[in-house]
Amino acid sequence: MSGQLLDLMGEAAKRPLYLVDAPTLTERDRRSAIATWQGRMVNEWVSARIFKDLQLQAADAGLSSAWRDKLARFEADEYRHGTQCAAAVVALGGEARQTLPDLPPVPTHGDTCALEGLMRNVLSVSCLSETVAVALINSERLESGPRELERTLRLILADEVGHARFGWRLLDELAPKLGPVRKKRLSAWLRLAFGHLEAHELRELPAGPAPSQQAAEVGVCDGNEARSLFYETVSTVIVPGLERRGLAAQAAWQSRVAA
Ligand SMILES: [Fe+2]
Ligand SMILES: [Fe+2]
Repeated sequence: MSGQLLDLMGEAAKRPLYLVDAPTLTERDRRSAIATWQGRMVNEWVSARIFKDLQLQAADAGLSSAWRDKLARFEADEYRHGTQCAAAVVALGGEARQTLPDLPPVPTHGDTCALEGLMRNVLSVSCLSETVAVALINSERLESGPRELERTLRLILADEVGHARFGWRLLDELAPKLGPVRKKRLSAWLRLAFGHLEAHELRELPAGPAPSQQAAEVGVCDGNEARSLFYETVSTVIVPGLERRGLAAQAAWQSRVAA
């Protein structure tokens, strides 16, 4: 998938968005908004690939079909989100075409058993990344001006809540069976996961304010606020949620390994 061209022009044309109530944008704001939605389009496609890999890992780990079916649905959700973001790109006057980045396979964690390996990935994907995504997308939704863009973000948000909840629910089910040694190993591994999460979010979120209120209304986030929201979500939602389930998340966050 690396280096492939992702071309969603055809998909965007099937579900066009009409931004009849869009603010007047400078050319700079418009380009910035297009780049933002193009980036989201790519990220959604990357997420779909991750959920595809997780389905195989979940089968190896012996998860029930109920859990595995959810992962299959999440893969489909992420592809749909990609086309929804593509429609936003086109509505803003851009081209829903981007080169896909390098995407190594989701780690299989050969140093441990299939279930613990899966738990590492589910913690990273659902409990960390998707939980942060819920906070960030909700904030962007609240800033949205055009009704159609707000609706797009609201629909995506509803799915992302499910993607995050999956990890928390799976942890609820499995945590009592993990035992102290596995919990200790998972807690140690969280140091790496938190380091990767922070590096990823800081790369994605620009260090600076949105160029204008109008740009913010069509999806360009205020990077300073988004970064604050990221750290707040880690400290008030993710770390306490993991601690409640018996993982030493506070210590892991404080000693996170820079990626
Ligand atoms: Fe998504
Ligand atoms: Fe997601």
